[in-house]
Amino acid sequence: MCGIVAYVGRKLAQPVLVEGLKRLEYRGYDSAGVAVIDPGGRLHLRKAVGRISNLEDAIENRPLPQAHIGISHTRWATHGGVTEANAHPHLDAGDAIALVHNGIIENYHVLKKFLEEKGYTFKSQTDTEVLSMLVGHLYNELAAARGSDGPFLLKAVQAALHEVEGTYGIAVVCRNEPDTLVVARKGSPLIIGVGDDEYVVASDAAAIVEHTSRVIYLNDNEMAVIRTDQFTTTTIDDIEISPVVQQLEVKLEEYALGDFEHYMLKEIFEQPNALRNCMRGRVEQREGRIVLGGISKVHKELVNAKRFILTGQGTAFHAGLVGDYLMEDLAKVVTECTYASEFRYRNPIIEDSTVCVAISQSGETIDTLWALREAKEKGAIAIGAVNVVGSTIARETDAGIYLHAGPEVGVASTKAFTCQMAVLTMLSLYVGRRRFMSQSQHQELIDAMVAIPEQMERLLNVSQQVCDITRQFVERENWLFLGRGYHYPVALEGALKIKEISYIHAEGMPAAEMKHGPIALINPGMPVVFIATKGSQYEKVVSNIEEVRARGGEVIAIATEGDKDIHRHSRHVVEIPHTLEPLQPLLSVVPLQLMAYHAAVLRGCNVDKPRNLAKSVTVE
Ligand code: G6P
Repeated sequence: MCGIVAYVGRKLAQPVLVEGLKRLEYRGYDSAGVAVIDPGGRLHLRKAVGRISNLEDAIENRPLPQAHIGISHTRWATHGGVTEANAHPHLDAGDAIALVHNGIIENYHVLKKFLEEKGYTFKSQTDTEVLSMLVGHLYNELAAARGSDGPFLLKAVQAALHEVEGTYGIAVVCRNEPDTLVVARKGSPLIIGVGDDEYVVASDAAAIVEHTSRVIYLNDNEMAVIRTDQFTTTTIDDIEISPVVQQLEVKLEEYALGDFEHYMLKEIFEQPNALRNCMRGRVEQREGRIVLGGISKVHKELVNAKRFILTGQGTAFHAGLVGDYLMEDLAKVVTECTYASEFRYRNPIIEDSTVCVAISQSGETIDTLWALREAKEKGAIAIGAVNVVGSTIARETDAGIYLHAGPEVGVASTKAFTCQMAVLTMLSLYVGRRRFMSQSQHQELIDAMVAIPEQMERLLNVSQQVCDITRQFVERENWLFLGRGYHYPVALEGALKIKEISYIHAEGMPAAEMKHGPIALINPGMPVVFIATKGSQYEKVVSNIEEVRARGGEVIAIATEGDKDIHRHSRHVVEIPHTLEPLQPLLSVVPLQLMAYHAAVLRGCNVDKPRNLAKSVTVE
């Protein structure tokens, strides 16, 4: 989703800004722009629709002068189409102020009307331009009242933000104050990288990591005024606050593609190691215990909880559904998994002793964040299962279990999903053991969990076989993914993956649900992917397979290694190593991820930057 990079310091701003935008490309965007102020106080703007390379072309055609301060943006359209006029930065009426914005100004209609009545005209259809005009208007009012040119940028931004309803992360520069960068946040992340005589501000650590590892995370309603030689943080109400400088946990090399053709494939293959990192120091096989330091301070509340609510969006929601089965099956506690976007607005009932687990790779998904806030407001204990350290959700929870999957760049989430499931498995073992689970069952699950990374390494060898199978069906526009029990959420995830990156229409559902309607879709040759591993519902899944075959559907079965019978029911079988049923989703999802990947490559799709999608969705 939209990205911000801003710079002030001794280096030239333009390369830092443009390279920073490239680091944010993975988040998804449709246009980009940059504004710099040269030392003489002139403001220069370049914008382009499409890729950052188009912006680079625009700069090459009309080079920017040397400048040491600037702001830049990748836009993912919300208000107004994908046009150069709608791309950020936006200027005020006097072309003196430039502003970039992530988030949504909800009352922009009211503000726009107010400004139009004062004679302002707008070049774009965006909510952001309204904000830049408003800042300019208030700046001019202050200048007129005080009879001087400024500096009023800070005051004008504060005054404008007081009028705004909605969410924002903004960066603003003004040609009257050519050494000053003002940034502010409410609901959209902003991180300030603190270098030597320079500051790089970005909405995502990916754009900062190559410059410095010292960062300040702005909180909601906070802002900063940044000059090369001076730095202050205040609230929007102008109360000074002391910034806390923290260490970035990610490293530059973790963003490197290495020998892989796409980030998605790299991240699929990283899963065994991601899981090892996720379980390190937490799954103690010899002692037979689960150690979760991040939640130890609330461990009594977790063990005595009457109810767990698991919430997230997209892939994180699917991990939550697996968690729902795990918590009820292993921890024996009433659990519900719900879309964060639905949870927030349905006025949920939260009784005493309720734990809400917010599941999120980015830790910034707005729906998940607000669901968490709603649960907290009503008294729930808030736990995070988050990948990005220091992200908003991670900071707003009472306690949490980081995924430690490493940076996930591919838009289609893969390693975060398996680590989310691993975290929820550890949580259910942790709670379960302290409630009703015997040591022997606990140990058996721990032993099986420890074996998963190696099993997964072996499993990844099926990539070519999955590619060959996928090739046979890749022209088909409709696919079904079916599973039962623990594999029902995996079926949903398989369908989501293939939709996201290969644009094939796919549906995932519980296998039994098929005959309540979707069976009408099955026609000769339609690919139907079954997760048919050995487990409590194996026979029932086989019956469902026969129902599909009877109608001419082409079954692709994900089955347990050594299962000879399954070949009688399916021509296409991908074998996965055997493990205990609650852990099977960790393995069964891998062939489905590979299937989606190969389908996208075979169809010539842009795997890592699929159309219309954003990696981190920070608007509702
Ligand atoms: C977007 C991404 C999905 C992701 C979902 C939730 O839709 O494209 O891949 O699963 O957001 O993101 P989160 O960062 O909260 O896990």
